[in-house]
Amino acid sequence: MNRFTDAVAIVTGSTRGIGAGVAERLAAEGASVVVSGRSEEDGRETVAAIREAGGTAHFVRADMRDPGDIETLVEATVAEFDGLDVLVNNAGVETYTGADEATVDDWSFVVETDFRAFWLAAKHAYDRMETGAIVNMSSNHSLATTPEIFPYNAVKAGINGMTRAMALDFGPSVRVNTVAPGWVAVERTTGDMDADRRRELADIHPTGRLGTPDDVAGAVAFVASDDAAFVTGSTITVDGGRTAVLQDDFLPNYREDR
Ligand SMILES: NC(=O)c1ccc[n+]([C@@H]2O[C@H](COP(=O)([O-])OP(=O)(O)OC[C@H]3O[C@@H](n4cnc5c(N)ncnc54)[C@H](OP(=O)(O)O)[C@@H]3O)[C@@H](O)[C@H]2O)c1
Repeated sequence: MNRFTDAVAIVTGSTRGIGAGVAERLAAEGASVVVSGRSEEDGRETVAAIREAGGTAHFVRADMRDPGDIETLVEATVAEFDGLDVLVNNAGVETYTGADEATVDDWSFVVETDFRAFWLAAKHAYDRMETGAIVNMSSNHSLATTPEIFPYNAVKAGINGMTRAMALDFGPSVRVNTVAPGWVAVERTTGDMDADRRRELADIHPTGRLGTPDDVAGAVAFVASDDAAFVTGSTITVDGGRTAVLQDDFLPNYREDR
């Protein structure tokens, strides 16, 4: 598929993990992609991988906690590729803190990176888009959650609401949707996980496995493309069915019992 021929896309937080997978997918479908993040070396590796696969990519360093960097990221993209059609707000962090113990620093760290930056990037991008699509990376923690991952879970729920607000305010020229991944295997989540733990996690998913960056990239590419021309303000959950499972004292082993 070449759904992004002649399109220009920014993927924030694409120096590694899900963002790198999304950048690679959009480039493989024809987009000129701006790869971004704070780690220049990792960002240049993502760009090199895209170019080796025959795609077009350029790295712009940006700290998404810095409003000035966000504006520069959008302007540098337009200067490099002469337009902007797709923004994927993906750069994110989390803290392992409960609502009773999180500090103001924890709050600022997560809210500035995962929430304020999504708004500011979308606002600047909208200014520069004639038509296009914005995709906000949420989480299945926006729908149901576990203890001690606050304010991440609250912020991700906020992203689903912010997406609806943007869909109204940026329509009809720009569509805005949310992709909410579940357990996705990246270095950060599974890098130091042993095989037994990984198998236990796979077993609690109706799909019998964890997600991959490419699973998420497929959903992002869909909502960003004209295939989703009538989809805006919505949230697509990409979690292998995990949020469909009602917790009880008996849980099936999806991989082995079926
Ligand atoms: N993996 C999962 O299981 C999972 C599940 C649900 C949702 N998500 C969401 O998916 C997104 C990506 O997660 P991931 O698992 O791929 O994480 P990751 O591997 O840790 O990658 C995070 C990316 O965000 C960038 N980033 C972090 N802080 C930044 C800042 N201040 N400025 C610019 N870039 C920044 C990092 O780049 P630099 O360090 O180079 O700046 C990196 O490229 C996040 O929004 C996360 O909440 C992930």
